[in-house]
Amino acid sequence: MPRPTTRRATTAVRRAVTALGPGLPAAGCGGLQSALDPAGPRAERIAEVWWTMFWAGGGILLLVVLLALWSLVRRRPSPGFKAPPMIIGGGLLLPVLALTALLLYGYRIGALHEAPAATRLTVNVIGQRFWWRVQYPGTAVETAGELRIPAGEPVEVRLNTVDVIHSFWVPRLAGKLDLIPGRENRLWIEASEPGVFRGQCAEFCGAGHARMVLVVVAEPRARFDDWLAGQDAAAAQTVGPGLDAFQEAGCGGCHRIRGSAAAGRAGPDLTHVGGRWALTARLAPVPADTLAEWILASHWSLPADDRRGLERLNATELRTLADYLGSLR
Ligand code: CUA
Repeated sequence: MPRPTTRRATTAVRRAVTALGPGLPAAGCGGLQSALDPAGPRAERIAEVWWTMFWAGGGILLLVVLLALWSLVRRRPSPGFKAPPMIIGGGLLLPVLALTALLLYGYRIGALHEAPAATRLTVNVIGQRFWWRVQYPGTAVETAGELRIPAGEPVEVRLNTVDVIHSFWVPRLAGKLDLIPGRENRLWIEASEPGVFRGQCAEFCGAGHARMVLVVVAEPRARFDDWLAGQDAAAAQTVGPGLDAFQEAGCGGCHRIRGSAAAGRAGPDLTHVGGRWALTARLAPVPADTLAEWILASHWSLPADDRRGLERLNATELRTLADYLGSLR
């Protein structure tokens, strides 16, 4: 049991290092996205490794600095000082023992990241430049940039990509795993409590890489089940001027609105887009104050030909389109 003063010092160091989050490679970006602020058992183990490495590395650094200072102060070797024991002990045995201990420790923790005994939910996450397609097998539900999960249970995430290598990373919930063309990777994430957690593509995948954000919303099981059932239903409105504008602009070529004539699969499914907690493309370069502006801004990365239909809409048509999408809850 550490003494209160020791514990206070430890907490102070933890706070200082956590606050430095963005500058630390392991830390992600603080706040919603810090590996040092774990929100689930799997992320807690990773934070534990980080702190163990921090204290072990810090101790060795301190020892080396003290020895260097001592040699500066002494200037000459003390009588009886022999170089070989120092070289064998400090240069060979100490690194071998320290690195072996850390390696074994790392293996033990790594084994804890394997599949849990049982999972009630599996989701497919598909990387696509520059957004995340999220599917719930066994249902028609598909979202973009938003992953809803039940809190308090492990969720299996199956990772695939349709183009280049991306990397799935929700620092507060689990480790990082790449999405590799032609191969399915599996990862388990878990949030102990309901909450909102930010994820980020962690492998450079092109001009939109930094904007390839994912929001994970963890909810109590019952609420999650309600949400999933609601999302599984067809769109609330599948005819009318809003959908006409949508089809005239060619949006239906890429986007699907289940129950309507729009059945495109290249872009995000918009069946319930109005009720989505987050729109990835809110991070588009243009300040998007309205859904209409967001629609234009979010298509920045597409080839000019794919944007043309959308850009042909006048302000009124765009407003009609935006109101329609906003009504799809
Ligand atoms: Cu996808 Cu970086």
